[in-house]
Amino acid sequence: MHTLPPWPYPFWIAHRGAGKLAPENTLAAFRAGQVLGYRMAECDVTLSADEQPFLLHDATLERTTDGRGVAAEHAWSALAGLDAGAWHGPRFRGERLPTLEALADHARHSGLLLNLELKPGPGQAARTGAVVAREVARLWADLTPPLLSSFECASLEAARAAVESLPRALLLERLTPGWLDTARDLGCAAVVVHCGALDVAAITRAHEAGLRVLSYTVNRAAEARRLQAAGIDGLITDAVDRFAPD
Ligand code: G3P
Ligand code: MG
Repeated sequence: MHTLPPWPYPFWIAHRGAGKLAPENTLAAFRAGQVLGYRMAECDVTLSADEQPFLLHDATLERTTDGRGVAAEHAWSALAGLDAGAWHGPRFRGERLPTLEALADHARHSGLLLNLELKPGPGQAARTGAVVAREVARLWADLTPPLLSSFECASLEAARAAVESLPRALLLERLTPGWLDTARDLGCAAVVVHCGALDVAAITRAHEAGLRVLSYTVNRAAEARRLQAAGIDGLITDAVDRFAPD
């Protein structure tokens, strides 16, 4: 039997806040998950042109805001006034893109735990990892730190170089050759793997290497049961109204 390091996070994690019930990556989305008992949320963090960390999934603004173009090309002063809620429904009109600082305030007051996915704009992988890690260390200094995850090794490397003590996770859509060595070399505490790519053998190998295993995006009960039986450590879900967290 392998012993894994302590893990401060709950099993169930709301994806993009609770990004199906409310506009993803907004404070309204985090609240929607918390009302249903979710104590942790995943969200996507990126940088404005003047290096303000804020929450947004896409590289461009059109799908989830009333802005246009590449988000990373705009200064925060231009992004701050965008409407990030009306696209989801009229009652969310006026919802803003949250800064990392606004998210930290919300976490402090509500006890929400976080998985911050580093989502760099074009050519910004290392910069995003470094800036976000430094801001997280400052804003969460006396709180349980967010888990920093990314598909981008350069973001995880830069986050480690900036603030080594923050927990990191390598995101994987597939189990590419050398995935476990890559995660270990990056000093990760966990891997976060697409649910279709995981089985009991992979989870066991990761555990034997001292890594936790989370999975995204798990929205079907049968898939959740399969992964729980296989020993998964956490599930990221859109279906916050289907799965009741502990
Ligand atoms: O962090 C897990 C998941 O959020 C990765 O995919 O595209 O939803 O950010 P995406
Ligand atoms: Mg994400």
